[in-house]
Amino acid sequence: MMLAEASAPAKVILCGEHAVVYGQPAIAVPVSGLRVVARVEVNPPGERGLRVVAGDMNRVLPLISELSAVRDALELTAGLVLARLQHQPPDLTISIESDIPIASGLGSGAAVSAAFARALSAALGNPLNNAALNEIVYEVEKIHHGTPSGIDNTVIVYEQPVYFVRQRPIEQFDIKQPFTLLIGDTGQSASTKIAVGDVCALYEAEPERIQPVIEAIGMLVQQARRVIEAGDIEQLGRLMTRNHGHLRVLTVSSPELDALVQAALDAGALGAKLSGGGRGGNMIALVTAETKTAVRTALLSAGAKQVFETTVS
Ligand code: PMV
Repeated sequence: MMLAEASAPAKVILCGEHAVVYGQPAIAVPVSGLRVVARVEVNPPGERGLRVVAGDMNRVLPLISELSAVRDALELTAGLVLARLQHQPPDLTISIESDIPIASGLGSGAAVSAAFARALSAALGNPLNNAALNEIVYEVEKIHHGTPSGIDNTVIVYEQPVYFVRQRPIEQFDIKQPFTLLIGDTGQSASTKIAVGDVCALYEAEPERIQPVIEAIGMLVQQARRVIEAGDIEQLGRLMTRNHGHLRVLTVSSPELDALVQAALDAGALGAKLSGGGRGGNMIALVTAETKTAVRTALLSAGAKQVFETTVS
C-alpha cells in the first residue's frame, strides 16, 4: 500500500558558482523537467526495518543513533528526519527513481535527499516544511561537498529561482521575461568537492590574482539579477559567457566544457558557460526559439552526451 509520494527537481547554477563559496552572490534555477521521485509503501510481508529500493539497490538502512558519524547520504537523511520527528525507525519501503544524471552538477544528491525526506516525513503523518527540509538536505550535502555554500539544497527544496548569498535569507526575484536554457552534459562525472578544494588552494597560493576574479564574478551576478528583472535576455547571455571566462581562470573548466561552450556560441546561443562544480558535468546555453534547434545539434556534434531543455519563468 502506497503511503506517500514526493519529488524534487534538478537545478543548474545560472551564474556565480565557486565565488559563492567566498560570500559572493549566485543565481540558481530549478530544472523542473528532471526529477527524483520517492514513494513510501508498507513493507512486504515478513520484511522489517526502513528499506530503500533504488535501481538495483535494495537494502535495509542501518539506523544509527550517533548521526555525526554517518557518512551515507540516505542513512543520514533518514536519521535526521526521524530525529526531528522524534519517531522510532519505521517498517517501511522507500523507492527512489531519478532522471537526474549523477555527479554532473545538476544537484542529483540534494534532490534525492529532498524527495526522500519529504516522502518519509509525509508517510509518518508529519510532512516537514521547506525550512526544515532545507536544513536536513544541507547537512547531507556536507557529505558530498565538504563545505557546501547551501545553494543546491535551497534551490532544490524551494523549487524556485534564487539569488543566494551564503548565510543570508534566500531572495526571490522577478523574471520579467521567461528564458530557455539548453543543458549540455559532457558525460564526465566530476567531484565538486575536489574542484572547490582546488579553487581554495589556488586562492590561498595567489590571493592577489584570484580575489579580483571572485569579486568580478560577484559583480557580474548582481548585474545578471538586474538584467533578468528588466527582461534583457541578450545582456544575460553576455554575462554568462563572461562568467565562463572567469571560471576558466579559476581552473574549473575542461577542454570538453570549453568545446561545448564554443559550439553553442558559434551556433547562435546568446551566452554559454559551465554550470556547477565544473571539470566535467554540465554546461548551459541561453537560447531563443530561433536558435534552440541549431544549438542543440551543435552541442551533440561537439560531444554532448545528452541535451536537456528548461524554461526559467
Ligand atoms: O553541485 P554543483 O556541482 O552544482 O556545485 C555547487 C556550486 C559550487 O559553488 C561549486 C559549490 C557550492 O557549494 O556552492
